[in-house]
Amino acid sequence: MAEKQRLQKVMANAGVASRRKSEELITMGEVTVNGTVITELGYKVEPKDKIKVSNKLIHQEEKRYILFYKPRGVISSVKDEKGRKVVTDYIKDIDERVYPVGRLDYDTSGLLILTNDGDFANRLMHPKYKVDKTYIAKLNGIPKREDLAKLEKGGLKVKDYRVSPAKVKIMSEDRVKNKAIVRITIHEGHNHQVKDMFSTIGYQVDKLSRERYGFLTLDGMTSGEYRDLGSTEVSLLLKNKK
Ligand code: URA
Repeated sequence: MAEKQRLQKVMANAGVASRRKSEELITMGEVTVNGTVITELGYKVEPKDKIKVSNKLIHQEEKRYILFYKPRGVISSVKDEKGRKVVTDYIKDIDERVYPVGRLDYDTSGLLILTNDGDFANRLMHPKYKVDKTYIAKLNGIPKREDLAKLEKGGLKVKDYRVSPAKVKIMSEDRVKNKAIVRITIHEGHNHQVKDMFSTIGYQVDKLSRERYGFLTLDGMTSGEYRDLGSTEVSLLLKNKK
């Protein structure tokens, strides 16, 4: 990632003040970078630069990229008004204020990335990146081939948008209970998209988990665990652009 960032953004990320207040501090001459007063708002700094605000050194947050195995029954957020468990309750031993890249529903489990790098998060969520996301859905009913073909073909209208072609595969069927396990890969990220895609073709998703995000999987991890992504993994994710 390009490590140079606008001074006011770095100040805001470090918790000095809001971005706007940080801009005021800069124009007031309260901010130095490596000992020089900077009053220019477009000024860019690197992680190694020493920034002082009103003569006090600020701590530039390191960038963190975390792969988390989200359990069911957890909100993809950093706080919840109703006091429910949130994903950051699980991320215990890190100082940086990470937040989820996109979200998984409360009752969806699986792979979620957290970061404090806003550019990285925005880029991954931007439609042009088309990161494939693979989900395992337990359906109430056994989908007919022609129904799944509607998802594979693309263009299906779901709520107020049309979906791109999905890859879909029936993993198992239970004829007695009338249930099926289906693997589906999509690259968009609308809220409740997988559930809404299946409900559009007439099936309810009873259980959903995300098992893959780009090339990342949860192999070797158990629910509630997390690990740092390596720098190679981070740059590979960003190379996904199509
Ligand atoms: N699609 C959904 O319906 N729910 C999720 O949590 C993720 C994708």
